[in-house]
Amino acid sequence: MSTPLHPAFPRRVLSSGATAWFASALFGQWAFVAFVLMFFGSPLVDGDLAALNRKPHITGYVPGDLVGNVQFVGHALLGGLVTFAGVWQLVPALRRRWPALHRWNGRLFLGIALLVTLTGFYLTWVRGSRLGFASALSTSINGLLILGFALLAWRSALRRDVATHRRHALRAYLLVNGVWFLRIGIMLAALVLAPLGVKIDYDGAPFLVVSFASWVLPLAVLELYFRAERSPRASVHYAMGGGLVVLALATLAGSLAAMAFMWWPVLWRD
Ligand code: HEM
Repeated sequence: MSTPLHPAFPRRVLSSGATAWFASALFGQWAFVAFVLMFFGSPLVDGDLAALNRKPHITGYVPGDLVGNVQFVGHALLGGLVTFAGVWQLVPALRRRWPALHRWNGRLFLGIALLVTLTGFYLTWVRGSRLGFASALSTSINGLLILGFALLAWRSALRRDVATHRRHALRAYLLVNGVWFLRIGIMLAALVLAPLGVKIDYDGAPFLVVSFASWVLPLAVLELYFRAERSPRASVHYAMGGGLVVLALATLAGSLAAMAFMWWPVLWRD
């Protein structure tokens, strides 16, 4: 006779799936943060801003354009910082042990997310750093959603409405990571499409699909996760937990590919 499963087992499968995804996202996001700090930080320390154009950008560093350059470098470095700050907010042990740290880091995260989003709007719509209208529209909707959910997360935290705060803060966290999702999404799409002979050009359909998917898909998966949490059915917990493990593997593969083909070669080029 087989031993009956512990009643909490299905929920443990669900939370283990979430932990697996989080662990692989943590790895990939910190690799991105390390790249951003090294790539954008060292020319700033050396006072050699022209070195920023060692890799292709949409606009990048333009001699004489003080406002544009400040927004460009500030956007990227603060983007790295907000990615770094966001991840800590999700660690339950930190929230429980040091609630004041969670609150201060949360304020830092939401404040910097606002700055990064507004400088992103400037770069795209004032400086003209656009790959195309549709992809600029996609990043801008992502930006507007960041502003919306950051505000809602802040408001619900002030009201001490923890359940609502958690939902909005998780949405804001995923949206802030849209830039990172876009990069690992491009890598995953390339891994699948390259063997089929399909190239990913900045004005082609695959790039646009990945652009929109970089924020729509994470939000959709999060909504499914919230539903699974509320569901009393064990099968739903198993399906979502298993799905998250698959996504954790995909996230890890995309992150490793971005490190190997996107970030590492740029940092170690002469
Ligand atoms: C808060 C979320 C965001 C973060 C963390 C972020 C982060 C970054 C980072 C790290 C880069 C440099 C990437 C690289 O060189 O590989 C970058 C570039 C860029 N970002 Fe963002 N970004 C965010 C939101 C936005 C938004 C909402 C927009 C537009 C509406 C935007 C527009 C841009 C543009 C146009 C560039 C490229 C500039 C160029 O190449 O000349 N970003 N972002």
